Amino acid sequence: MCFKLFLAFVALFFCKEKTCNPQDFGAGSVVCVCNITYCDEFEPVNVKPGFATIIESSKDGKRFFRRQISISTRKENKATYYETDPYFEIKINRAKKYQRILGFGGAFTDSATINIESLPSSMARRIVRDYYSNYGIQYNVGRIPIGGCDFSTRPYTYDDVEGDFGLKYFSLSKEDLKFKMPSIKYASKVSKSPLWLFASAWSAPTWMKTSNSLIGGTLKGKPGGKYYEIWANYLINNGILVSGLTAQNEPQLNFPINSMNFSPKNERDFIKFNLGPALKRSGYISKNFSLIIVDDDIIYLKPFTSTILSDKIARKYVSGIAYHWYKNNAYPRDLIKEVSERYPDKLLLSTEACIMGNISLGNWSRGEAYAKDIIEGLNRGSQGWVDWNLALNMNGGPNWVNNYVDAPIIVNSEKKEYYKNPMFYILGHFSKLLAPNSIRIDVSINKSQSNEAICAAFETSKHETIVIVFNPMSTDMNLNIRDPNKGTIVTKLQAKSIMTIVYN
Ligand SMILES: *[C@@H]1O[C@H](CO)[C@@H](O)[C@H](O)[C@H]1NC(C)=O
Ligand SMILES: *[C@@H]1O[C@H](CO)[C@@H](O)[C@H](O)[C@H]1NC(C)=O
Ligand SMILES: *[C@@H]1O[C@H](CO)[C@@H](O)[C@H](O)[C@H]1NC(C)=O
Ligand SMILES: *[C@@H]1O[C@H](CO)[C@@H](O)[C@H](O)[C@H]1NC(C)=O
Ligand SMILES: *[C@@H]1O[C@H](CO)[C@@H](O)[C@H](O)[C@H]1NC(C)=O
Repeated sequence: MCFKLFLAFVALFFCKEKTCNPQDFGAGSVVCVCNITYCDEFEPVNVKPGFATIIESSKDGKRFFRRQISISTRKENKATYYETDPYFEIKINRAKKYQRILGFGGAFTDSATINIESLPSSMARRIVRDYYSNYGIQYNVGRIPIGGCDFSTRPYTYDDVEGDFGLKYFSLSKEDLKFKMPSIKYASKVSKSPLWLFASAWSAPTWMKTSNSLIGGTLKGKPGGKYYEIWANYLINNGILVSGLTAQNEPQLNFPINSMNFSPKNERDFIKFNLGPALKRSGYISKNFSLIIVDDDIIYLKPFTSTILSDKIARKYVSGIAYHWYKNNAYPRDLIKEVSERYPDKLLLSTEACIMGNISLGNWSRGEAYAKDIIEGLNRGSQGWVDWNLALNMNGGPNWVNNYVDAPIIVNSEKKEYYKNPMFYILGHFSKLLAPNSIRIDVSINKSQSNEAICAAFETSKHETIVIVFNPMSTDMNLNIRDPNKGTIVTKLQAKSIMTIVYN
């Protein structure tokens, strides 16, 4: 009796689905509020033969809403779904395969982890679980700034002792020890797949730079010279190089935040004469480690890759190419595709994205911007997508140069609450089910005129098929997935929504 009661209690306690606790701040949709006792979470997804599991989020408030429908294997029901416009038909062409997925993630900046640690520790741990665990959106990638960036509370590097050419005073910061590392360690503990962590530096110490400031300028001297050599050693010294390193964050940035410029030639020669050999000496090149170039807007993909990768020596040190999402709507996105096709042996990743400007709690259109960018990038060969700050405060900071932006999780430490924006769920529509090593597969689309829905399809290493469809339009539509091997899935795609469909 007692035992039965206990079991019932356990079942009630553990099996009750924890759904979104919505709050409307007037920005078009809702956030899900998490406090010390409550937060929504997602049970792992079970795939049943003959059924498709559909996961849906929408502007009108659905968040990871889950249902199962059966897959029809009847042949004669063709085209009965088109009776009403608009429609969107996806035909799966499994035989044609494209890139392998590396993963999805966000950045463990000083500010993100200061915000996380400003909450009671049980909540701080839970934010990391929301992102990285099976009960969250299962990120498997993390970006780590080497030293400070603008999302720090002060300007600093790991060696601010003027003229310390031997890097005798090099040391990690209190931010690393107190804020970044606890979050990173916990993420790696709760993540099911091994974390793929990569690091990027924003600026060298002022004494190594022509601007004598953390903002702007270049390294003093020339590639191959003293300052470039010290800088290569500095990058390797930091002890947080795990799976990858970008040669420089935004080498072409001209904006008043921590930054340091490299021309394509200088990045090439820095890699060729200093960074590549230093990585090799330290054993990184022979490990499963990626030195990644560009790490800037897509307009720089071509000049940097063609200059760096046409050099035989530089090329052998480089295993990846990264781009950032800023101005992606201003340039042709096929710049991504060109690079992916020209360098099929190199990893290709989107490594930074955020909505600039003030936070906007529950803003669905910001989530839509993420959905569009992720799908358009994946459909052009990108192997993953990495968000910027994991969590920001109610001002979109802290940021020591007042460059405030938005984030998928906003922390209100005064109220001991945090808010999950639509961007969080939209990212989850990709990261949660699209496990590392999934392969993108071809689709052909038949849709009604001026239908702006977009989609991408994948096969996981467990042979599950994943289709992600995003509807930016204000009308519902008939959705029809035809898979010659498995049957037909007929459903409705709601106005202003995103859907992940998984079947075996
Ligand atoms: C939502 O974000 C978009 C893009 O940043 C912005 O244009 C719009 O004004 C925001 N909406 C609201 C209601 O704040
Ligand atoms: C946390 O949120 C839940 C769900 O809305 C609510 O029942 C509970 O009272 C809240 N707890 C605190 C401490 O505010
Ligand atoms: C090397 O890295 C790739 C990409 O993350 C991964 O798929 C592969 O399993 C790794 N190999 C080893 C030997 O760790
Ligand atoms: C951001 O918020 C601040 C403070 O409320 C305000 O002064 C500023 O104009 C806002 N900026 C934008 C771009 O909306
Ligand atoms: C696309 O759908 C329309 C509407 O049902 C149909 O008439 C047409 O034949 C289809 N086209 C292809 C290429 O399947």
